[in-house]
Amino acid sequence: MITDTAEYIKRVDKAADYIRNVLSGRLIPSVCIVLGSGLGPLSSMAESPIEIPYKDIPEFPVSTAPGHKGSLIVGTLSGKPVFMMNGRFHYYEGYPIETVTFYIRVMGRLGVKVLLLTNASGGINLDMKVPELVAITDHISFNAEPVLRGPNIEEFGTRFPDQSHVYDPELTDTLVNSARDLNIRISRGVYAYCKGPQYETPAEIRALRILGADCVGMSTVPEAVAATHMGIRVAAMSCITNMAAGISGNPLSEQEVLDNAALASENSCAVVKEFVNRINV
Ligand code: HPA
Repeated sequence: MITDTAEYIKRVDKAADYIRNVLSGRLIPSVCIVLGSGLGPLSSMAESPIEIPYKDIPEFPVSTAPGHKGSLIVGTLSGKPVFMMNGRFHYYEGYPIETVTFYIRVMGRLGVKVLLLTNASGGINLDMKVPELVAITDHISFNAEPVLRGPNIEEFGTRFPDQSHVYDPELTDTLVNSARDLNIRISRGVYAYCKGPQYETPAEIRALRILGADCVGMSTVPEAVAATHMGIRVAAMSCITNMAAGISGNPLSEQEVLDNAALASENSCAVVKEFVNRINV
């Protein structure tokens, strides 16, 4: 938990200043895309890219999750300047929650207005088919470490941020329309956040289904909450890489997640490119 807010802001601004210096003279992007499983190839689709390894950015954590690289790409996608986070930080890796969301704070201080989060998730809704895409419309995270616990950082946002529309309805429509116009199947769904790293039990999945969840994963929610706190508009897209625990009867495996994320990769990247093309920022 953050106790010294001034010190935390100083650390965030140190990282932001470093990135601003590396970009000296270039337009600072207003869009940040977080590349979850299967979206890695998007990092090589940026034009005029500058790659900044996380280890070079002061105060930045380094991601340890499999399939997650560790660099910030700054470039142009669909004609717009974008940040791409190639690798994110999960709570299950052992970071304090304010470290998981550190990069969101840095993006906010750099002036980012739109955040597109992508991830892999397990399908809870039985109508879902692996590896389809889902536009996340809302989330459930009752059992999670509260992202904003501790003294509120007024410079970032209000004490009790409204969560009625964490996922911006207009951006979500743009995401869905981008996929549909490319003839790529996408549904809308509620994402249940579980801290991991163990997968959920079948009983947990049955409970989450009753509560209204369509898919389940171990990321995205901390970042979305921190972003809404800062007034950043959020959209999120998930790839259903497996049916959640207890549905198929097969054991869940990381390999299945990575394989199916890779199968969906071309579609996922195409939707993100079209989304960036269509948004007004
Ligand atoms: N559960 C949690 N996280 C996941 C899953 C799952 O079934 N699939 C991909 N990420």
